[in-house]
Amino acid sequence: MTFRRIVFPGMLNANQIAFGGEILSFYDECSGIIGLNYRKGNLATVAIDDVSFTRPVHSGDVMVVRGRVVYAGRTSFSVRMWMDVEKNGEPLGPAGGAVYHYVALDEAGKPAPVPELLLETEEDRLLWKEAQLSRDLKKKRAELLKESVC
Ligand SMILES: CC(C)(COP(=O)(O)OP(=O)(O)OC[C@H]1O[C@@H](n2cnc3c(N)ncnc32)[C@H](O)[C@@H]1OP(=O)(O)O)[C@@H](O)C(=O)NCCC(=O)NCCS
Repeated sequence: MTFRRIVFPGMLNANQIAFGGEILSFYDECSGIIGLNYRKGNLATVAIDDVSFTRPVHSGDVMVVRGRVVYAGRTSFSVRMWMDVEKNGEPLGPAGGAVYHYVALDEAGKPAPVPELLLETEEDRLLWKEAQLSRDLKKKRAELLKESVC
């Protein structure tokens, strides 16, 4: 799925480029829509990973955000987002991305099973592995922090 939003002057920071929070808010909205199309019910965002801002976005630029579900566990799944920038209908290039992790919730607010994700292409398998690696790393980091004394 692809989404577009024009950058207005009110979305800029003191350096006159798009405020990171505005970009994240757009990702949040887009990945939520992708998530709701995948799992038709309540969702909660549990984590956001691998956020990058690789090109400044200016007033009047159009943020072109696309994303897809790349990983599905038992009750959780991950949506990878990518952003490109356009100006006056011309592509300016990639500007970063992020990965949103969701948990499906039942009516009592408890984790519920998610649909199976079919991996059809080599790219599907690569993105799945990447998401899995990122999750494993996160778990290891959490264990390490538990062991720390601070
Ligand atoms: C969503 C919530 C109910 C899940 O509860 P929980 O106790 O973490 O649930 P579990 O430990 O059973 O984990 C559920 C799944 O989430 C995954 N998960 C938990 N924390 C995660 C994290 N930080 N990153 C990625 N996945 C995570 C688990 O691996 C598990 O996946 P699986 O079932 O596919 O194997 C709870 O974390 C919560 O309420 N969080 C607040 C959500 C919120 O307010 N979001 C902001 C606005 S939407």
